[in-house]
Amino acid sequence: MKIAILSNGPGNYSTKRLKEVALERGHEVEVIKYKECYASIAQSNPGVSYRGEDLGHYDAIIPRIASYMTRYGTAIVRQLEMQGMYTISGSLAISRSRDKLRSMQLLTKAGVGIPKTVFSRNSADIDDLIDKLDGTPVIIKLARGTHGNGVVLAETKKAAKSVLQAFYLTNEDGTNILIQEFVKESAGVDIRAFVVGGRVVASMKRQSLDDDFRSNLHKGGEGTPVKLTLEERKMCVKAAKAMGLNVAGVDFMRSERGALILEVNASPGFGIEKITGRDVATPIIEYIEQNAKRRPKKDKIGA
Ligand SMILES: Nc1ncnc2c1ncn2[C@@H]1O[C@H](COP(=O)(O)OP(=O)(O)O)[C@@H](O)[C@H]1O
Ligand SMILES: [Mg+2]
Repeated sequence: MKIAILSNGPGNYSTKRLKEVALERGHEVEVIKYKECYASIAQSNPGVSYRGEDLGHYDAIIPRIASYMTRYGTAIVRQLEMQGMYTISGSLAISRSRDKLRSMQLLTKAGVGIPKTVFSRNSADIDDLIDKLDGTPVIIKLARGTHGNGVVLAETKKAAKSVLQAFYLTNEDGTNILIQEFVKESAGVDIRAFVVGGRVVASMKRQSLDDDFRSNLHKGGEGTPVKLTLEERKMCVKAAKAMGLNVAGVDFMRSERGALILEVNASPGFGIEKITGRDVATPIIEYIEQNAKRRPKKDKIGA
């Protein structure tokens, strides 16, 4: 098959691994910088080009869209989808995974456990909101934050109020901010499950090394392999499915009431391979081999 990896970082470990495995398995593969792609949306001759070449001849694409370029990246993927190209990750699924509020709504609808979450665009209602979460401390999150950067722990109502006021100043539209119960039982620790085609192929625990409550590796967290229970595996697979993603990095915390999902990432990093010794690239290429020949499935999530 002819496979295009849409990635702005040809030197990234994830990109290199996908390319290596695809070549090993006898495919033709090219890394395409989607930031340099351009599209024609004319009725007569629609298409996406890269350095003068039309991408229409590929059999499948693997989008690895960075969060800072979600809009452009998903527009390129969408254009290719509209031409009938097979993509392992749909443009709709990628964009919805980048919005934490929308994701939380879909996950609860699917019956997946999440931390208690509220949203509002008025800091005047903060007392009632915090009561709904059974009091402080609470976590306040920007819906489009990444790498732990938009996540704040507020110890008191007063602190929560000032953080919210500051956030609302820069975000007029209140849907950008979520308030969550603080899952204290496993503060500073979370688990990443790498899901491919309805199966957890690797899982690791991440722990912050200082006293930070955020376990993001970008924030200096450390990863170790971890074994998931059958129930946790089922929950992660369900979460990926609820988001409409065939490849997903599902992050959750172990709490007193079981696994609580924090987020579902559409372009999970492959660093988990180095930590767990599991190969996550091969299942992805295999999934494409088994599914690309069929017509792409319609996204039926409806939100
Ligand atoms: N409700 C919560 N309770 C306790 N810790 C949390 C909660 N939400 C997030 N965290 C911690 O903060 C980190 C970053 O939060 P997350 O929602 O994954 O945002 P990001 O997209 O920035 O990684 C998580 O990995 C976890 O360690
Ligand atoms: Mg995270």
